[in-house]
Amino acid sequence: MLTTNFLDFDFSNPFMNASGVHCMTTNELDELAASNAGAYIMKSATPAKREGNPEPRYFDVPLGSINSMGLPNLGFDYYLEYALKQQEKTSRPVFFSVAGMSVAENIAMLKKIEASDFKGVTELNLSCPNVPGKPQVAYDFELTYETLAQVFDFFTKPLGVKLPPYFDMAHFDQMAAILNKYPLSYVNAINSIGNGLYIDTDSDQVVIKPKEGFGGIGGEYVKPTALANVRAFYTRLKPEIKIIGTGGILTGQDAYEHLLCGATMLQVGTQLQKEGPAIFDRLQKELMAIMEEKGYKTIAEFRGKLKAIV
Ligand SMILES: Cc1cc2nc3c(=O)[nH]c(=O)nc-3n(C[C@H](O)[C@H](O)[C@H](O)COP(=O)(O)O)c2cc1C
Repeated sequence: MLTTNFLDFDFSNPFMNASGVHCMTTNELDELAASNAGAYIMKSATPAKREGNPEPRYFDVPLGSINSMGLPNLGFDYYLEYALKQQEKTSRPVFFSVAGMSVAENIAMLKKIEASDFKGVTELNLSCPNVPGKPQVAYDFELTYETLAQVFDFFTKPLGVKLPPYFDMAHFDQMAAILNKYPLSYVNAINSIGNGLYIDTDSDQVVIKPKEGFGGIGGEYVKPTALANVRAFYTRLKPEIKIIGTGGILTGQDAYEHLLCGATMLQVGTQLQKEGPAIFDRLQKELMAIMEEKGYKTIAEFRGKLKAIV
């Protein structure tokens, strides 16, 4: 049984797409809605439609992917309209991802969501640029604190935040202390590992055009970092704040590891891009097989139960 209770809703299984993969158009979203994913999230929206960066801007590599998409999306209104239509058809909540290019843009979009009939879950993508020349929001601890203070002044619907990876124990401590001050529903860890570089030595060239080839890394490369972030937040956040585990999920084994670290829902980016929505059937079968072998009937029996060496 993979049934997963998340924010008072029973999903048939914990698997979702990761925002940005297979979720830009209503066609892609309809395919996710019809797939065996437990839930799905829409492409991160900006207030107006964006073309994003010049191509090539995504490249598959054997151990994952590199991308610098530049947030191409069809604009906030497009996704709100889709979500409102979907919620008429099913009680399963839709996940909305908001990624403004400034705090003001984020606040403006969240005010529209608050004022609308949207009944789903909202994810605020804090691993986004803010001011050019400054780090992304979630690497600026003061700005993260102030942004969330502004948000929770008016926002009353279920809200989670998507975080970039952290690499230092002090940063896990500081970020968790900030997040614990707010009535967040969940934390989604991790976004891509920022600014990697992949090289093609046949041409001695980078593989994507934007930013001289620098791009976010996903897939197999990022799993150990993703697991560490899930674990670090699971052990530091108050229990009301759930964790969505994202990063390096290619198999049921990867999913099992994320759950053992404390994740409740699981998102798949790079491998969904490579395999398409049929991946959700395979992942469920593989996770069920591991649970059977270990004698677990439900995920709740092992979630978060990673053992330390004593
Ligand atoms: C092509 C592509 C586009 C992405 N766009 C977004 C996005 O719009 N919003 C977001 O929060 N994350 C975005 N991501 C990051 C993924 O949601 C995910 O956090 C990351 O790829 C790690 O998961 P993975 O190892 O399964 O790929 C994108 C990733 C890829 C590969």
